[in-house]
Formats: sequence, structure tokens, C-alpha cells
Amino acid sequence: MLQHIAIIMDGNGRWAQARGLSRSQGHEAGSRQISVIAKAAAELGVKILTLYAFSTENWKRPAAEVNFLMGLISRYSDERLSEMQENGVRLRCMGRIDQLPALVRRSVHKTMQATAGNSRLILNIALNYGGRAEIVDAVNAILQEPRRAGRISEADFQRYLYAPELPDPELLIRTGGELRISNFLLWQLSYSEIYVSDKCWPDFGKEELLAALAEYESRSRRYGGL
Ligand code: FPP
Repeated sequence: MLQHIAIIMDGNGRWAQARGLSRSQGHEAGSRQISVIAKAAAELGVKILTLYAFSTENWKRPAAEVNFLMGLISRYSDERLSEMQENGVRLRCMGRIDQLPALVRRSVHKTMQATAGNSRLILNIALNYGGRAEIVDAVNAILQEPRRAGRISEADFQRYLYAPELPDPELLIRTGGELRISNFLLWQLSYSEIYVSDKCWPDFGKEELLAALAEYESRSRRYGGL
């Protein structure tokens, strides 16, 4: 089984619109789907799930939607703690966390600490995350080093990213049918296989995850070789 799957959870708004529901209800359904997929991934033996929950560009959405998403993330972190403990899930976050509202930082911090000892699945949530922001933050961290080497290697650079301990995702899944990376994991996706599902995120269940994994298994990964 592959170790690390990254997911762009797109299509909550369209899912809601098609049902005459509000965008918030779409995000609410999307948050429930996180638990479904985390549980399925853990059962299948996947070790890490990295989910794009809020991008550095998502601040451009109407304030009411941004506030709803912030509340939802905080609520998810509080309300799903016991479920994470039961399933051996460890919560982890990546992004410009210090710029998030205090409410979100507190809930996420608490759940990260409480689940720190779990090791079945790492649920890595990208929050206020941008791939370019991550690279720029890494460069700035390197510039802060008091005794800087003249040159650095790819492996050295990697140590300054938000989650240096995680291996690169073998598979990127994007739901909602669009064919873009959208500033997600620009460094880490170099050799990842990409799978796009036409299903909106709230409709992406275990069956769809299995279809993505089957497609992944059928591809041959050559990393630039033959
Ligand atoms: C994209 O749908 C989805 C998002 C911008 C947010 C993803 C958030 C969640 C799934 C729920 C909250 C997260 C956590 C960690 C509890 P969209 O609104 O862009 O959909 P559209 O393209 O159909 O409008």
C-alpha cells in the first residue's frame, strides 16, 4: 500500500447548489466526508492523508464563508477528537497557522497535543496553506540561519518545509473534476501520480477511494527513467 495520499477537496459549493442547499451546508457535508475517508484510508493501511482545507487564496471569499469555514475547522477539531482517538488518528497541521483566528489555533493545538501519541494514520490538514508561501517561508527560514552554508542541496531545503518528516505523496487526488494543482504542495508533488474524480468532495466515498488506488496501482512510475 502507498504511504501518503494528498487530496484537494473541491466541489462542496457545487454539491450544495445541485441540492438547493447553501454553500455552508456543502462545507458541512465536506467536513463529514473527511472522517469517512480518514477511516477508509486507515483501514486500507495508508499512513498519511494530507487534505487541502483552506488555502492562502481562500481569504478572498466573502467574509461570511471564511468565518463559516474557520468555525467548521475549529468545531471539527473539537468534536472529532474522540473519533480520532478510537481510530488511532494523529492530527497535524501545515500552513501559516499563526495567521489563523485564535479560536482555530486553540482547537487545533489541543487536538494535535491530545492525539500526538497515535500512529495509525496522520491526518495532515493544510490550513492557510499555499505552495508558494511554503517555499518562500523556507527560503526566509534559511536566510535566518546564523551560520549559513554557501550552497544547499534539495535534501537540505526539504528540512525547512512545513512537514519535513513526511515523505512526498505518491498520489494526489482532486475531486470536483478540475485539472489544476491550485498552489498545493508545489515541491512535494514533483513525482506524484494525479487522479481527478468528477465526484464532488461530499460524494467521494470509500468506493471512489478504492477506484483511485486501483488506477494508481495500474500506472508505472518511472521518475524520469525508463
Ligand atoms: C472547495 O469547495 C473546498 C474548500 C475551499 C474547503 C474545504 C473544506 C472542507 C472540506 C471542510 C472543512 C475542513 C475541515 C478540516 C473540517 P468549493 O467551495 O471551492 O466548491 P465549488 O468549487 O463547488 O464552489
